[in-house]
Amino acid sequence: MLVLGVETSCDETAIGIVEDRFALRANVVASQAQLHGPYGGVVPEVAARAHLDLMLPTIDRALVEAGAHLSDIDAIAVTAGPGLAGALLVGVSAAKGLALARDVPLVGVNHLRAHVEAAQLEVGALDPPLAALVVSGGHTSIVVMDADGSFRQLGATIDDAAGEAFDKIARFLGLGYPGGPEIDRLSQGGNPRAYHFPRAMLHDGTYDLSLSGLKTAVIRELRRLEAVGEEPVLADVAASFQEAIVDVQAIKTLRAVADEGLEQVVLAGGVAANRRLRARMQADCDERGLRLIVPSIPLCTDNGAMVAASGANLLAAGHLDDLSLAVDPNLPLAVATEPPG
Ligand code: KG4
Ligand code: ZN
Repeated sequence: MLVLGVETSCDETAIGIVEDRFALRANVVASQAQLHGPYGGVVPEVAARAHLDLMLPTIDRALVEAGAHLSDIDAIAVTAGPGLAGALLVGVSAAKGLALARDVPLVGVNHLRAHVEAAQLEVGALDPPLAALVVSGGHTSIVVMDADGSFRQLGATIDDAAGEAFDKIARFLGLGYPGGPEIDRLSQGGNPRAYHFPRAMLHDGTYDLSLSGLKTAVIRELRRLEAVGEEPVLADVAASFQEAIVDVQAIKTLRAVADEGLEQVVLAGGVAANRRLRARMQADCDERGLRLIVPSIPLCTDNGAMVAASGANLLAAGHLDDLSLAVDPNLPLAVATEPPG
């Protein structure tokens, strides 16, 4: 059973092909980073138009990578949300066209859930209950996959996503876009305790996070140094900022794991590439005897394989959509994602 997954929720046009739920056959991502780079962030209309241009060539590349023909595809899965409305619409329209033309089932997928289920392409069937921290340019969410395979969101950022904060601070420091990898690299030689930046909402009793105050604090500190004629040590600023972000994410996630009585954690999303975050999560999980699952980077960043995997799970549970499938930029995790029954 071959499922083709279509992902266009943000700025990657991505097609993945998965066989029998767990075997990765193709994972092709056409990144638009160069298009959005000059703006320092994703421009929604530019993304939607680029998805249109890139869709068919990316499908072709994925079929070649899988050694398959379109006629071999048994079902189409597509991200229905959350994400950018115009961008999602291109993917969902393409998926409907494929399903209609090939007369195969269509299933809409929740992007956050797909980030978590990507792990099954490397470790095999997930064995819930488990918690997941999904961190990328668009989201920072702490979710739980319950024993029956359904998902619940425990908390999320109330303002900036973690990757967004990395990108904004990188831009302020005059580094390239996307900024996360640049800050990760610059931090290597820096002292994470050189500057003290705030850790917001640590003790508010929720699993939500707030990162915009941290961003403002970094910018304010740089301006203060400039005003008094002091050169900031950029590596120290980057390392201290990164430490603050990693701190809140690790602390809140591990608290959720403890409160929910869980023993496994999945770390996913583009920011899961961050070396400090990975090391910290690993150390915290080791200390508590928890299993940490971190998919390899191509399965962490936005990709179509995760959508195919999630869609295959839904299909296996008897879930189907039809051509009335709508995009939902704010698609909640718990709705329209739980397999019936
Ligand atoms: O999952 P992703 O590819 O796309 C979105 O859904 O946004 O994540 C991209 C984000 C960007 O904000 C990028 O700066 C961040 O992930 N990122 C990192 C690292 N690599 C990518 N952030 C911190 N450290 C990294 N090594
Ligand atoms: Zn994502």
